[in-house]
This record gives sequence, structure tokens and C-alpha cells, in this order.
Amino acid sequence: MTSTKQLLVDLHVKYIQSLDTKKDDLEYWLTEHLRLSGIYWGITALDLLKNLDALNKEDVVKYVVSCQHDNGGFGGHVGHDPHLTNTLYAVQILLIEDALDAVNIEKIVEYVASRQDRQSGAFTGDEWGEVDTRFSYCALSCLSLLKRLDAVDVDKAVEFIMLCKNFDGGFGSTPGAESHAAQIFCCVGALAIVNSLHLVDADLLGWWLCERQLKNGGLNGRPEKLEDVCYSWWVLSALSILGKIHWINKEKLIEFVLAAQVYTLWSHFLALTRTFSNAKSFKDPESGGIADRPGDMADVFHTLFGIAGLSLLEYPDLKSVDPVYCLPKYVVQRIGLAERYHV
Ligand code: FPP
Ligand code: ZN
Repeated sequence: MTSTKQLLVDLHVKYIQSLDTKKDDLEYWLTEHLRLSGIYWGITALDLLKNLDALNKEDVVKYVVSCQHDNGGFGGHVGHDPHLTNTLYAVQILLIEDALDAVNIEKIVEYVASRQDRQSGAFTGDEWGEVDTRFSYCALSCLSLLKRLDAVDVDKAVEFIMLCKNFDGGFGSTPGAESHAAQIFCCVGALAIVNSLHLVDADLLGWWLCERQLKNGGLNGRPEKLEDVCYSWWVLSALSILGKIHWINKEKLIEFVLAAQVYTLWSHFLALTRTFSNAKSFKDPESGGIADRPGDMADVFHTLFGIAGLSLLEYPDLKSVDPVYCLPKYVVQRIGLAERYHV
């Protein structure tokens, strides 16, 4: 391992491509429930890296369609129970592939609306009934992308999210739960979607968020926790929506994310000498992807959120990401949902 100052695009593209060919690994089968989410994380990363074609569109769309249930919701894999989170991921993947017409949209809307408790305004992730502000985000993001926010009680949804706001300006998963940067992304994102950002205490929350940056440049999700690449997304997206991304040290964070890239010296050499992209048969299972922090193993979740964080920081040669929908901006613009966030 050595430190690098550049984003190893070719290695990350090959790493994401290789994820579907590891069927001999036990891990592949143990993570079956994450298959659809893995495709969302992978395909979004590929698109931001300007390599959407690295995965076959027809195969991706066919797989997503096969995860839809009769009630309209999507499971994490074929035959898995439907869940709000996977339903959002399915819609996001189809939008990236420009293939929303491959599924029954009205059934999706029906499913998402059925997950709202009309009394509290909260959403449950699935029929087991867990309530969490991440599900409020999934529902509102999904319906907004489908232009069907009319299907739920938006005022009640906002009322529930506001019950989860804390004295420090942050938000938790349920009323009374401590502030957590990923839940803050969910709540601020959801409020942005329904034009309710005026309810956020932007300065107080901005301070809490920028205090997540540690000496090594990385961001954590809560006080006293370790830095983690995925918080480059959860924290930065919220700061970006609030117009305060410049409150963190951009250079130090870029350095931290780049240091969490996984590669061997040999593949790094090939990438640097530009022979890598021509070496089609070259396989290096140890290379590519981004880990939660330097020295750890890569996974596709941290690979997306590292790249998406870099995109928010305007790292060169990446497509711009939308901080509310976590989709490439051009996809959000293509469906007519241009930026319209006002704090
Ligand atoms: C951290 O979980 C993540 C969350 C709480 C938010 C997850 C958000 C969604 C599922 C909404 C969809 C998101 C996108 C980007 C479209 P964790 O349990 O790993 O947190 P930890 O770091 O405390 O362990
Ligand atoms: Zn993480």
C-alpha cells in the first residue's frame, strides 16, 4: 500500500464490474439481501465516474424488474420481501438507466403510500413496522422522483420529521433519538424535497455538521466516533443543501477519501502508465474500490459515498451529484426536477 493523490478511476470501474462475477465467494451469497442496493451503489458510482456503460443496461433493468412484487414494492433480491429502501433504489436505478417504463409506476406509488401511518405521518420500512426517518426520506424521495407526492400526507410527514429534531439542530431516527449525520441527510433531504427547509436551524446544524471533521480530514457521524468515508456523503450532502459546504476543509477531506482507496502497487503502476485500461484480461482481486477508512477492505457502499463526496467537492472529471437525491444531477434534470432548495 502507498498513498495516492489521485482518484484511480479505472481500478474502481473494474472493481464494480467484478462484483457480479464473485459467485464462488461465500460473501456473495451472504450478502444476497444487498444485491439491489449494491447495484444502486455501483451504478451510481459508475455514472459519476463517466463509465455507466461498464454494466449492461438490459441485464440491470431485467434484474430490477424481477425484484418487484405484486403489491408494487421491491425486495433486496428476487423473492425477498418488499421494503421501502429497496423500492427507492429500484426507482433510482431505473432513472439512471432511463428505463422507468419497464415497471408499473402506479403500483409503486400505491406501495409507498401504504407505508405511511396517517396519524403520525411516519413511514414504516416494511410490514414488520419499524419506524425511522430514513424511511420518511425513502418515501418522499421516491414519490417526488415519480412526481406523485400527492399520494401521501406531506404535512403529516413533515410533522413527524420535526418531532425527530434535537436541541443541537440535528435529527435522529425517531423522536428523542440522538442526532446522527446519516439521519440528518435523510431529514434535511426530505424537507428539501417538500420545500420545508425553513424549518431547519441552518446555522446551528451547519456548526454541528462541520464539527464532524477530524484532524486527519475525515468526517465522523456523531461526536466521539471514528472517521468514515461514507460520512463524506451524509455530512457533505446536508451541508451542501444548506449552502454551507465551504465550512469544512475541502483539501483535507479529499486527501482522506483518496487515502481510503484500495489498490496494489502493481495495479497502481499499470493505471499510472495507462496500460491498465488496455489490459482487458488483467485481473487483480486486491485492487479497486474505496474502504471506510485507509487500510480497510473496499466495499461498494463506501466506494459510492467516497466518489459522491468527491463530486460534491468538485473533484475533477466527475459528474456532478445531486445532494438531495444522491443521483447524478443530469438524471434529476432530465426528469425536470431542477435544483430548487431554499433554506
Ligand atoms: C448509516 O447507517 C446510514 C443511515 C442511517 C441512512 C441510510 C439512508 C437510507 C437507507 C436512505 C437512502 C439513501 C440514499 C443515499 C439514496 P449505519 O447503521 O451504517 O450507521 P453507523 O455509521 O452509525 O454504523
Ligand atoms: Zn461507513
